[in-house]
Parts: sequence; C-alpha cells; structure tokens
Amino acid sequence: MAFDLEMIKKVYSLMPQRIEAAKKLIGKPLTLTEKILYSHLDEGTATKVYERGVSYVDFNPDRVAMQDATAQMALLQFMQAGRPKVAVPSTVHCDHLITAKEGATKDLPFANKESKEVFDFLGSVSNKYGIGFWKPGAGIIHQVVLENYAFPGGMMIGTDSHTVNAGGLGMLAIGVGGADACDVMAGLPWELKFPKLIGVKLTGKLNGWTAPKDVILKVAGILTVKGGTGAIVEYFGEGATSMSCTGKGTICNMGAEIGATTSTFGYDESMERYLRATGRADVADLANGIKQHLNADPEVYASPEKYFDQVIEINLSELEPHLNGPFTPDLATPVSKMKEEAEKNGWPLKVEWGLIGSCTNSSYEDLSRAASIAKQAIAKGLVTKAEFGINPGSEQVRYTADRDGLLGTFTDLNAKIFTNACGPCIGMWDRVGAEKKEKNTIVHSFNRNFAKRADGNPNTFAFVASPEMVAAIAIAGDLSFNPITDSLINDKGEKVKLDPPFGDELPTKGFAVEDAGFQAPAADGSAVQVAVSPTSDRLQLLDPFSAWEGTDLKGLKLLIKAKGKCTTDHISMAGPWLKYRGHLDNISNNMLIGAVNFFNDKTDDVKNQLTGTYGPVPATQRAYKAQGIGSIVVGDENYGEGSSREHAAMEPRHLGVRAVLVKSFARIHETNLKKQGMLGLTFANKDDYNKIQEDDSIDILGLTTFAPNVPLTLVLNHKDGSKEEIKVNHSYNEQQIEWFKSGGALNIIRANVGA
Ligand code: F3S
Repeated sequence: MAFDLEMIKKVYSLMPQRIEAAKKLIGKPLTLTEKILYSHLDEGTATKVYERGVSYVDFNPDRVAMQDATAQMALLQFMQAGRPKVAVPSTVHCDHLITAKEGATKDLPFANKESKEVFDFLGSVSNKYGIGFWKPGAGIIHQVVLENYAFPGGMMIGTDSHTVNAGGLGMLAIGVGGADACDVMAGLPWELKFPKLIGVKLTGKLNGWTAPKDVILKVAGILTVKGGTGAIVEYFGEGATSMSCTGKGTICNMGAEIGATTSTFGYDESMERYLRATGRADVADLANGIKQHLNADPEVYASPEKYFDQVIEINLSELEPHLNGPFTPDLATPVSKMKEEAEKNGWPLKVEWGLIGSCTNSSYEDLSRAASIAKQAIAKGLVTKAEFGINPGSEQVRYTADRDGLLGTFTDLNAKIFTNACGPCIGMWDRVGAEKKEKNTIVHSFNRNFAKRADGNPNTFAFVASPEMVAAIAIAGDLSFNPITDSLINDKGEKVKLDPPFGDELPTKGFAVEDAGFQAPAADGSAVQVAVSPTSDRLQLLDPFSAWEGTDLKGLKLLIKAKGKCTTDHISMAGPWLKYRGHLDNISNNMLIGAVNFFNDKTDDVKNQLTGTYGPVPATQRAYKAQGIGSIVVGDENYGEGSSREHAAMEPRHLGVRAVLVKSFARIHETNLKKQGMLGLTFANKDDYNKIQEDDSIDILGLTTFAPNVPLTLVLNHKDGSKEEIKVNHSYNEQQIEWFKSGGALNIIRANVGA
C-alpha cells in the first residue's frame, strides 16, 4: 500500500555513519533506542551527547499516522499551516468512529452514513495534501501501520497513544498530539525530551496458556501506570527473539499503559518473517543489509545494567497468564490468584462479555490462538456463558481469518463479528442495558480499562487479558476460572478441560484480501476542494488563539480542583463525544466532565464563583469566559495520563482557562498544553495542593520574566481576604515559552511558512 521504499533506503543509508559518529561521541556501546534516536536527529550527525531525562532534542520522524478522531483536529490545524503537501509520508485511518452493536454487516454501513461528513472531509483533505487514506472498515490504525508501514530502525509519530505498537517491528513509534503531527507534516522538526532507558530482559520461552500479552501485563504490574514516564523500554533476550512480531507489537502497544514514551525490540527473524508475509520482502532485504545497526551493540545486552537506567528481568518459562484490572491496567493478578483477589475485593465473578480485538490484540496469530480455544469448546460440548465479540484488526486479517475458517469457528460459538475497528475499546459500543449502570464484569483483550471506557457504565469492572484467556473466560462465564487447573461441565454433564491454545504466527496459506480499503492521494491535489460546511455541528474551521497579553495573570477563578485520577478521558471524554472531534466549540461541552471535584466528590458539579451556585464544568467556564475572566484548573498526580488527544488541552484553551496546576503531568498532555499556548505548572511543594480553596482567585506572577528553570509564583487570594504565596515549577524551554507568548505553536508555524 504504497509504503515508501525510497524513504526507507534513505534512512538506512544514513544510519551506519550516524550511529558510528554517535558511538564515538558518547564513547561507549549503544542501545538500539540510542541508535534510532541519534540517527534521526534534526541536526543530522550528532555534535553533542544528549542527557537522558534532561535535554530537549529535535528529531526528524520518518512518518506520521493519524486516526479519524484525532486526524480531524490535526488536519484542521495543518490546513492553517499554509503548505501544499505533507512533508513526510502520512496516513489517515478511519477506525474510531464506528459503533459496535449488531455486527460488521450492519454497523459499518450505519457508521458510513452517520459520520459521512467527517469521512468525506478526511478523504478529501488526504487527497489534497498527499496523505494515504484508509477508509472505514480497513482496520485499526496500529494493525494497519504494522502490516504496511512500520520498518525496523524507523521513527514515526502518530496522533494516538498506541502508535507505540509499531515497536513490534523495531521502530521507535511515539504517540503525540495533533499539533505535533501538524508540525512534522509541515516539515518542522519534532521535539522530545531525550528519554531515559529501561531494559527488559526476557529469558525462557512462553508456553502453555501464557501469551505475549502476559509479558506486558506483568511489566505493568511491576512498573505501574507511571513507571515508564519519560522512558523508552527496550526488550531483549532469548525470550524476545522467540516471540512473533505481532506478539512484540502487543507488548509495545501496552507500553502506553505504563506511561512509557515508547517501547521497541531489536530486528530479528520474526520481524523478517512478518515483513515478507506482508508483502515487504524489499524492506526485509534492506534491513538484513544493516542488521547490526538495528540491534543494540552486543556489549549492551551482555551487561544491561551498565547501559540502561533501569533493568527488569522476566523469565517467560515461569510467567503465568494474568488478568489486569479492574479500572486500571496495572493492577496485575495472576490467574491462579484471581479467585482469592476477586472474593476479597468484591469483584463480580460472573462475566457478562468477552471481547477480543483492539489494536493490542487483533492480529492473525491472536485470532488463531483464540479460535483454537473456541474450536475445542465446540468439540467438547461447551457453549459460551458470557456473550462474545470479536473486532479483527484489519481487513487483511479479517479476510484471511475468514478464508481460514477462524471467524466461522467464532460464530459457531455465537460470537458477534464486529467491524475491523476500535469499537468497544474506545467506548463506541452500543451495549444493551449499559444505561442501567448495573455492577458487572467484562473481560477483554484491549489495553485500557478505566471506568466507563468500554460501555459508559461506571459499574462495569473490566479486566484485560490475552485473547486466548478472554475466550476461555467467556466460555466459563466466570472471572475466577483458571483454565490451567479448572474443569467445566459440558452439555452431557461431563467434566471437561480446555487444552492450552495453539495457533499460527502467520497464515500458512499467506495473507489475502480483496479490497484492503486504501485510497491513494492525488498526485497533484491543488485542485481538490476540501469541504467543511459552515453549518456543520461536527466540523469547524479553526481561528488562531490570541497571543499572551504581556502581563502577569491576575484574578483567575478556580474552575475545579480535580481529585485523584484525571486522565484525558476525564478531561475530554470519548464515547459519544468522539463525533465532535472536528468541532472545537461543540466538543468543549465535555470539558472536564469526568473529573471529580475535590470539594464535593462529584463529577461535573463545580461552584460558579460569580453566582455561588453549582453547575456543570463547561457551563461554569463559559460563564467566566462571557465575563472575560480567566480561570485555573488544579489537579493531582499524573494529570492527563491516558491518551494524546489535544482536545484535552484545546478545550480549556478555547473556553478561557489560562493555566493547569498539578502535582505531576503525563508527558503528552503537558506538551499539548504548551503547544496550545497554555500554562502547565506543577506544585514545587506537592502539599500546597491542600492550600487551594474552593473560592480562590489566583494570580500568576513572574510571566514577564518567564524563563527556563525559573519557578513562577502563585498568589492564592482566599475568600476570607487572606493570601498565601506558593512556588510553582514548569518545564518550558526557550521555544516553548515562545509558544506561550504567541498564543500557541501554530501561530509561529504560520508566521514562518508565510515568511
Ligand atoms: Fe483503537 Fe483502542 Fe487501539 S481505541 S487505536 S483499538 S487503543
């Protein structure tokens, strides 16, 4: 599908010399991560050593990928940049806006009708600006990227947190906001804080019921949702090379759940097999030619503690299948302990749904291993006690799995085959009865399981597991079912056991597809019209944000002091709101509606300081905006974790919030705030969070001398007339301070393109 062989040749031709130069400069052997980073520097050949976790570095990524929800805003922004064509190969993938309800045959035509104007906009804007367009039903972005575009040693960015999936094919692939994608498509470098490096040594070999998914479920349990923040995770060891390429993709994919910048694996035979099976023998041949540069130097893996900031070792031979959850992906429970844990914590044991799919686990191998369980169940006289749904990862996977009878096996077990799309993984699931908000349990092979994520019901306890475990648990209908030790009763009343799963890493008859769903862009798009109706409630052309007024910010009203977890889902909820991704004013009506107000423990209920009454967050903020009064949002730890959606930064910006002050930020969200010209600040003393009162008006001082590494001062003007001063930190560098002053990064790009 038009992968850019010339671009790959160019990258590979530069790598050896750039890596050698970096090695000389650094004076020691290099990890794979360093090799890829140092060969993608904007400055070309390295002239200095960058400090991990400290230096901001400009890179030139090789590709950009966007999904339909985030692409809208990224491309609306790109249209403002004034370029005729994208500067690097880029693709758009329509996968988020398709509701799973009755199955693909009904759901896809419905989505095509429901979101026609968005798909038409994305199709036409792609056609005009030289972007590859994957139509609705073509597949989930990261599966399609792995099948078509990822290549060992490459660097890409994508407007989705799970872009990291391409690490399975030896890339450094990083999730960003639409504003970053816009920069790179406009030909500008992309800035990243040079990451710290975590090495994960995998010894032994997966066996029995254990799958690649269990590796990352275990790692998430060890590192937690914050443990990978600011770091790239590099996997190596005999356990790594013994896994399939798509299995490696699963592991890298869920690196997003530990907050890692990305994860990757060295080039090996599994990647070569995958490249050849997916029609990219040319890329495999090129990669074989520079193999030594697509892996760390041998000394690194021999003594990893010398080269990584942290090293974890996992013996795959001893690893147990895991179930992570509920409500957070790092609560890892080995299957043998689930009964005890569930009973202790009051998790409902009866499982209502088993769902297989998402970009994490929807490869041919995933489906074939899960189908082996389904097949056994049928042969042994079992049925599924829970409902069962499957989202294949791409049309190529779906077509091939259908040809090979895998989908037939699932439907024989009464599974619903949903569209090749995200569906329930992103809350696009019209689940019957979810509105009753009953306490219930589901098990899925996705990556995220925050409250309300799959079906909007806060009382759905979602557990993440491998596809084969999901199949087994859907059959048992019991969260505590351990297929390694437990039996089930079949239709004859006999006790039967499920044998361990097996499957094909790649289809033995090869992949096949009739229509993959790809639309190549026009060679010359200058005459292509991009249609955005001025009356649309789903798309709205952007107006530039206004520049900083040049003074300190005084009298900001506290909009909300968010308590506990506040992810991008809490700040800009997905589900039904996804359809307004291209309309900033309309989607702003979901701003922070999921955040818990510290002062009353309620969501979407904050005090309007002008009236003294309580009401929804967006309406309260609009009331401040109408009066020309700025506001401030206060948050807890790891604020903005979860996803790259820049709406979580653009909405507050659009509605007049001036600053977000938290104990700590998730990296992508902090950058997104900066891009939009917002102030993202952190408490110098985290206990000062307790000093913020409900009726506070807050002044931010020091902006006229805003400089890197210089804290700012906040004055808290309490209702009783007392005042307190606190210090707040920021991580703005010189360039980011310019973004703040100009009112956003895009204002600077446009000025530069026009110049
Ligand atoms: Fe889609 Fe879920 Fe992946 S929303 S891109 S399948 S994380």
